[in-house]
Amino acid sequence: MVAHPNGKKIAFITGANKGIGFEVARQLGRRGMAVILGTRDPQQGADAATTLRGEGIDARPVRLDVTDRHIIRAAVREVERAFGRLDVLVNNAGVALDRGLQPSEVPLDVLRRTYETNVFGPVAVIQAFLPLLKQSEAGRIVNVSSELASLAQNTNPDFEFRHIKLLAYNSSKTALNAVTIQFAHELKDTPIKVNTADPGYTATDFNNHRGTQTVEQGAQAAVRLATLPASGPSGGCFNADGPLPW
Ligand SMILES: NC(=O)c1ccc[n+]([C@@H]2O[C@H](COP(=O)([O-])OP(=O)(O)OC[C@H]3O[C@@H](n4cnc5c(N)ncnc54)[C@H](OP(=O)(O)O)[C@@H]3O)[C@@H](O)[C@H]2O)c1
Repeated sequence: MVAHPNGKKIAFITGANKGIGFEVARQLGRRGMAVILGTRDPQQGADAATTLRGEGIDARPVRLDVTDRHIIRAAVREVERAFGRLDVLVNNAGVALDRGLQPSEVPLDVLRRTYETNVFGPVAVIQAFLPLLKQSEAGRIVNVSSELASLAQNTNPDFEFRHIKLLAYNSSKTALNAVTIQFAHELKDTPIKVNTADPGYTATDFNNHRGTQTVEQGAQAAVRLATLPASGPSGGCFNADGPLPW
């Protein structure tokens, strides 16, 4: 194992050039982790890493498109060469492509593209990084989902966002929640913990900054799950305040 020169924990965050992913990277960096910013656009990755390094954070960019298995494999090789292990994986990258559409209006192609990024992407990234996560003494996988994924909330007539019924987005995040449970079960006898984080309605490009929370608040749940102690939970869904119903 090639340990980080300073013995720091190593965290990889997908979609870390902006929004919640960038803030998760910043907060993990402030906690002393070396953060690897997975970004589709290399220039945006370089700029984001420069910003964090300017704040004294150990940050570096790695190109990552979660829908491209060759790029994922190259990213894993880069992390392996540099560190030989991974301590934290935050699957943050996500898209909502069916805003404004009723379920009956969503083209299958939009449904497929949403699942490519929000479901198959995280699965591919977890599978690819798992050998490196198994080299960690305390691996943590965090899947960034949404309250809109919750079947309990989707069927709750009092749910604040009950009117938002996005066939592709909501169901893809429901599937991502199921992915959390499957991997948590497989890894239950290892030190690796797998959990779902719900950021809450957060002002980012995702919603034209209409979210009611700051990115600092939106990053909290993922950061807490990325830094869980050995006694912490696995296979659960949490927001910043605690456990949520599936
Ligand atoms: N904001 C909210 O209110 C809210 C609420 C609940 C859940 N979430 C979830 O939080 C996560 C982050 O959202 P955000 O609000 O920070 O949105 P954002 O500012 O739009 O950021 C989304 C990030 O995902 C990246 N991404 C998209 N497709 C990708 C792909 N194929 N490969 C790699 N990266 C990809 C984007 O990269 P580019 O810049 O290259 O497009 C961007 O970095 C998402 O999973 C979202 O579903 C957000």
